[in-house]
Amino acid sequence: MDKIHSLTGMLDLYEDGDSSDLSKNIFETEKRIKKIFHNYYLKEIRTPALEDTNLFKRSAGDISDIVNKEIYSFHDRNEKSISLRPEGTASVIRSVIEKKLDQSTHKLWYMGPMWRYERPQKGRYRQFYQAGVEILGYPEGAPEFEMVSLVCSIVEEFNIPDCTLKINHLGSQENKKAYCDALIKFLEPLKKNLDKKDLERLARNPLRVLDSKNQDTQLILKDAPSLKEFLEPKSIELLEAIKNEFSDICNIEIDYTLVRGLDYYSGFVFEALSSNLGAQDSFLGGGRYDDLCSKLGGKELPSIGMAIGIERFASLISNSTHSDKILSFITLGSTLEAKTYKIAHRLRSLNKNIILDMQLSDSSLKAKLRRANKSGSEYAIIVGEEEFNSDKVIIKPLKDELKEQQTVSIDELFDFYKAL
Ligand code: HAM
Repeated sequence: MDKIHSLTGMLDLYEDGDSSDLSKNIFETEKRIKKIFHNYYLKEIRTPALEDTNLFKRSAGDISDIVNKEIYSFHDRNEKSISLRPEGTASVIRSVIEKKLDQSTHKLWYMGPMWRYERPQKGRYRQFYQAGVEILGYPEGAPEFEMVSLVCSIVEEFNIPDCTLKINHLGSQENKKAYCDALIKFLEPLKKNLDKKDLERLARNPLRVLDSKNQDTQLILKDAPSLKEFLEPKSIELLEAIKNEFSDICNIEIDYTLVRGLDYYSGFVFEALSSNLGAQDSFLGGGRYDDLCSKLGGKELPSIGMAIGIERFASLISNSTHSDKILSFITLGSTLEAKTYKIAHRLRSLNKNIILDMQLSDSSLKAKLRRANKSGSEYAIIVGEEEFNSDKVIIKPLKDELKEQQTVSIDELFDFYKAL
């Protein structure tokens, strides 16, 4: 029988790790990012993976690559066109409009798979995970600082190597329009030097030409008018204030050529990059999208958000060690199990910060210690028949060679565990 394989660009993920550390790091990243979101008093929202295709056409812009070429769309049994979400923002806004929550403020987060039919390569998948944040109902100002603070907290917590946060301001709709007109005027006589993709961008969404991967186009753009000349002073001041406030935490660069792949942005936009990622170097991106809610049929709802690409982010933390303490519980002798499970149960209730790996196999002490070392356990709690008959257990340090193993009473074990 033919073997069935996973689809191209779609990963199976094992928390325990597989051939690479990526899987393992993805789970660790998700856990720790959720804690940071919690610290910022963000509340979780979950929306369906499938949506009406029109949602993405109207939000991302039906001239964007994401909707034009990359969306997974198909007809359901009722011949309705539905799509796997390529991103989370549109679904969040669809949901708040539907629940009539578009008149109030919200600070939301979500985490889950997204789908884009892209050419798979390192850091680019067809199913990938995003952790996203949407701050809804607040006009420009404080939310921009909150968002950059959140990005900096994430970069700091994970100690991301070689990270740059690029920021830009796309201005008001009028500024954007004036700049696009100037860009078209500049590029029009140079059209013969542009490739097919850039010509298409010029015709449909001129700002996207700035994002061209073609080196020749980039050379031409060196003499193009700068967006900065079209911005109001308050927009430039905002960028400078953010740079001044956060530069000691994260390398921040104002880049007036930074544009985003989705059409709904206006105002402040940003992307975090790391040179350690190779060609797909952006692990996080976002910005302000004040018009999206009204465009989708809701009220005026000034909003800003961002999403982290979990796979790319997780590949950056390959050398990190997580801070949770792990202990291994090892029993030797088949008659002990029932009682020792109760001791393990009590330990878990005494200190919820410790991960206790109860070893379930009946392998040798040597094999169990090997597993304990592999899991990064700091101590092994060992219960053999002899110790157990005298109400004792052994605490064996695994990481610090200078510390000696000790035999202690069950009560002493509880005290030791509580104090960890
Ligand atoms: P985005 O820049 O399209 O923004 O995606 C955010 C992040 O998702 C990227 O920086 C990247 O790390 C990751 N990503 C995108 N495509 C792929 C892929 N094919 N494989 C792996 N990772 C990928 C958005 O999606 C916006 N919804 C962000 C946002 C939220 N803006 C406002 N609120």
